[in-house]
Amino acid sequence: MSVSIRIEDLCKDFPATSHGSSWRALEHVNVSVEPGEFVTILGPSGCGKSTLLNVLSGLDTDFQGGAAIERDGQRTKKARIAYLFQEPRLLPWRTVRSNIEFAMDAVGIPSSEWAGRCTKWIELVGLNGFADFYPLQLSGGMQQRAAIARAFAVDPEILLMDEPFSALDELTARRMRQELLTLWEANRRTVLFVTHNSLEAVYLSDRILIMKKGPGSYVCDEVKLDHLARPRRYDDPAQYETQKDVLQRLMKFVS
Ligand SMILES: Nc1ncnc2c1ncn2[C@@H]1O[C@H](COP(=O)(O)OP(=O)(O)OP(=O)(O)O)[C@@H](O)[C@H]1O
Ligand SMILES: [Mg+2]
Repeated sequence: MSVSIRIEDLCKDFPATSHGSSWRALEHVNVSVEPGEFVTILGPSGCGKSTLLNVLSGLDTDFQGGAAIERDGQRTKKARIAYLFQEPRLLPWRTVRSNIEFAMDAVGIPSSEWAGRCTKWIELVGLNGFADFYPLQLSGGMQQRAAIARAFAVDPEILLMDEPFSALDELTARRMRQELLTLWEANRRTVLFVTHNSLEAVYLSDRILIMKKGPGSYVCDEVKLDHLARPRRYDDPAQYETQKDVLQRLMKFVS
């Protein structure tokens, strides 16, 4: 897997509205994620995490600086990206199965593979029996799990994940994190994950980037997690020690 992320000197201003003046959301942000690396951005609410992912995914094109996906060191617009938002964003007029099929169709996965992929992912996220339900017939957590199935079913090269588990109950969230790591360990995709949960960040990542709250947010600290063995376990005391360190660093830049 040779797809990487390069964000260089990225600045983002939101224009003034009738309610207020313009807002510098991101200031000279630099982030690199190497092929197959799992990097998490940790930062308080409003520090610009979603803004950063929106720019990187191509949803927001109004910025200064660089935000690129590279393949073998060359900028590409053809990488298969899955973007999992903070909220499910399912198409309400389509069933769970049909939402997943829609995403597979969009990235050109042959229709002969759709049924197998749907069955696999619906089962993995624990939605067996709900494939033909519409989003409004599901709970919020079930909708988010359907969105997770949709993201993984396209076999992405890059995963952009914006607090994907924050709406889930803790037991389901734990299961989904374990599942994510099992998948990632079997087939190392390049992941940029966003959260404000420090333990989740430690449990999942190779590296944590801490973002300072704006105006003018930027990455102000980095924690490498090479000392934590993989596969990760929730009962590993070293994780809790590391979480303490991460929390202290976070508080230094937030308070
Ligand atoms: N469309 C917009 N117009 C104006 N300001 C915006 C817009 N979107 C975001 N902002 C501002 O940019 C800043 C960063 O917002 P963003 O959604 O990226 O934060 P976040 O770190 O993802 O927060 P959270 O953890 O709560 O999701 C906030 O101050 C927000 O008010
Ligand atoms: Mg956000």
